[in-house]
Amino acid sequence: MKQNILDQSLTLSSYATSKNRWFKSAMSEAMATANHSPTSDLINLYRIWAEGGSGIVVTGNVMVDPYALGEPKNVVLTKNSDLNRFEKWAKAGTANGTLLLMQLNHPGKQVLKGVVNEAVAPSAVPFPPKFQKFFPPCRALTKKEIWKITDQFAQSARLAQTAGFSGVQIHAAHGYLISQFLSPIHNLRLDEYGGSIQNRFRFLRDICRSVRQATGSSFTISVKINSADFLKSGFTEEESLYVIGELEKEKVDLVEISGGTYEKPAMFDSQIKDSTKRREAYFIDFAEKVSQKVRVPIVLTGGFRTKKVMEEALITGVTDMIGVARPLAIHPDLPAQFSSGFADEVHLPDIKTGFRAIDDAALLELMWYARQLHRHGAGKPVRPGLSAHSTLLYSILKNGTDIFQLRRV
Ligand SMILES: Cc1cc2nc3c(=O)[nH]c(=O)nc-3n(C[C@H](O)[C@H](O)[C@H](O)COP(=O)(O)O)c2cc1C
Repeated sequence: MKQNILDQSLTLSSYATSKNRWFKSAMSEAMATANHSPTSDLINLYRIWAEGGSGIVVTGNVMVDPYALGEPKNVVLTKNSDLNRFEKWAKAGTANGTLLLMQLNHPGKQVLKGVVNEAVAPSAVPFPPKFQKFFPPCRALTKKEIWKITDQFAQSARLAQTAGFSGVQIHAAHGYLISQFLSPIHNLRLDEYGGSIQNRFRFLRDICRSVRQATGSSFTISVKINSADFLKSGFTEEESLYVIGELEKEKVDLVEISGGTYEKPAMFDSQIKDSTKRREAYFIDFAEKVSQKVRVPIVLTGGFRTKKVMEEALITGVTDMIGVARPLAIHPDLPAQFSSGFADEVHLPDIKTGFRAIDDAALLELMWYARQLHRHGAGKPVRPGLSAHSTLLYSILKNGTDIFQLRRV
């Protein structure tokens, strides 16, 4: 019998082989111990995903600098970390022949008030007034600090390799530090890190080179990049195409395409036009352009819900892997369900409160999914019937009204 394309393996230039085309995209879990190591619940969660059958699983963002957290309970990996817990995490997440990539991130200025003392960015450009309530003022990084952060990415990647991870994913999307460097709105530097797209790309390029140098050619390196940030005068599709072409030259193994930032969360449906929703995968038109330009394997993420559309995207060569996040939070074994014919589409609840400010920013949606991840980790069944209002109430009771300052993607 002919094998379904979703079940076909894919060998990367690092020679690592994904057993199928399922790519579990990063979902920030906020499940770290007080000293920012993985908790037992986090380790359990990754055992569940590994058993669920995805070929590649990416962790939620792990921070490279303990003084630059995005959320209070982020995992951080530095030379002071308890590597033993990371080894347990890697062992659980690589069960069942799964490739486990650790997503490495630095939030830059997209960090919530109260989480860090001082926010840093390529330039001291504040967020627009309506976001200033959430984000602290920022200052521009010196060149020395830029080099230090580049080294921190390399050091965390090397430690992830030692702990047994199959690779890393460098988070260059969604408005965090690397994405801020790429953006002409946030990067107004006059030195070699600012100005032309060649210069704005330099920080990401240096990180890719340092990570490769620290880990060698058989360690898988992926980069998550925005197709665009959907802001006026922001990072454009043309610039993203240029960057992806350069990432190919840097011998990155896998490029994941997403889009949007905290200011405009295009990675979630709330910001997506109806015409795009009909095509299911939010960034499929852009992925088509990428596939015509480069040969580096592509993962397209955002919106995939049906086997038919996933198969079409693979057959037409628009993408090499199918990136999936929210559906795998509810059905960690979705690859097995699709493969056996038990299911061929997934329905996710509409998580809306009716309050536009909350619904548009997708904040509650993030909290709702995070609650499901926490339930998996604690060995409890997921609750797809959980209402948006109960999540809102639960979060307010747990964290006070500060909850809206505690989640981001
Ligand atoms: C709870 C939650 C946390 C997320 N955290 C991250 C993250 O840490 N890093 C990242 O790159 N994307 C993060 N994302 C975005 C997803 O990786 C993905 O791009 C987005 O959910 C669209 O894919 P989907 O339609 O399959 O859910 C998060 C999404 C959710 C729902």
